[in-house]
Amino acid sequence: MPAAIMGGTGIYNLPNVEVESREMVNDYGTAQVFMGKSAHEDIVFLTRHGRDHSTPPHKVNYRANIQALKDLGVRRIMSTYAVGSITADYPVLDLAVIRDFLDFTHGRAFSFFEDLERAVGHVEMSKPFCPVMSNKLMALASKHNIKCRDGATYVATNGPRFESPAEIKMYQILGGHVVGMTCCPEVYLAGELGISFAALALPINLAAGLEEKITLAEDNIDEVRENMINLMIDVLHSTNDDECTPPILL
Ligand code: HPA
Repeated sequence: MPAAIMGGTGIYNLPNVEVESREMVNDYGTAQVFMGKSAHEDIVFLTRHGRDHSTPPHKVNYRANIQALKDLGVRRIMSTYAVGSITADYPVLDLAVIRDFLDFTHGRAFSFFEDLERAVGHVEMSKPFCPVMSNKLMALASKHNIKCRDGATYVATNGPRFESPAEIKMYQILGGHVVGMTCCPEVYLAGELGISFAALALPINLAAGLEEKITLAEDNIDEVRENMINLMIDVLHSTNDDECTPPILL
């Protein structure tokens, strides 16, 4: 079965992988996906903001995207998120493996369990991110010249505005490490459909209040992004569908 890579801000292609665009229509809308092959493995690439970055975080059709991957037979997703760092433990341009989240999004379609056609399910979130793929990310990072920190808690905000300094202070107190706008509801929608999900955060700035004003990293970022994609593809090659256990439904 194909595995999927979901790209966030700045990730609009898979270098070295030829892809073909395909439109997937489902009950939730239309998703554009890109079908490719790497070392004989089928890979589906999806860039959540669109290749021209025209879809803001609160307008992404998360359900159409995840349903499209499900319909293609995907059982493993590796996802990337550009984030702000809210603690010195997660420096800008060092990657972070996300293991947990705090969800502050609102007004989004956040569940598949809201029509009468599916029995109600409650996806269990003790381990929202697949430990097998997450551990592999850590194990293979140095091979790809990547400095990677483990154990990040991702704070999901609604965007598209950035946070105020007081909000960032609150997120620090609550135990957040990085802040972004899209990991929720993506991670738990995948869980609802029985898909294993692992995620890498790329801090591109220090969050509000940590510097005089927010400055986005530019130097070396293309190289970091390319290394990150190569790492994710390597992780997909070195794991398989059956050893990754998605969250269960209660
Ligand atoms: N806040 C929210 N989302 C982000 C940030 C940030 O500082 N940087 C990149 N995505």
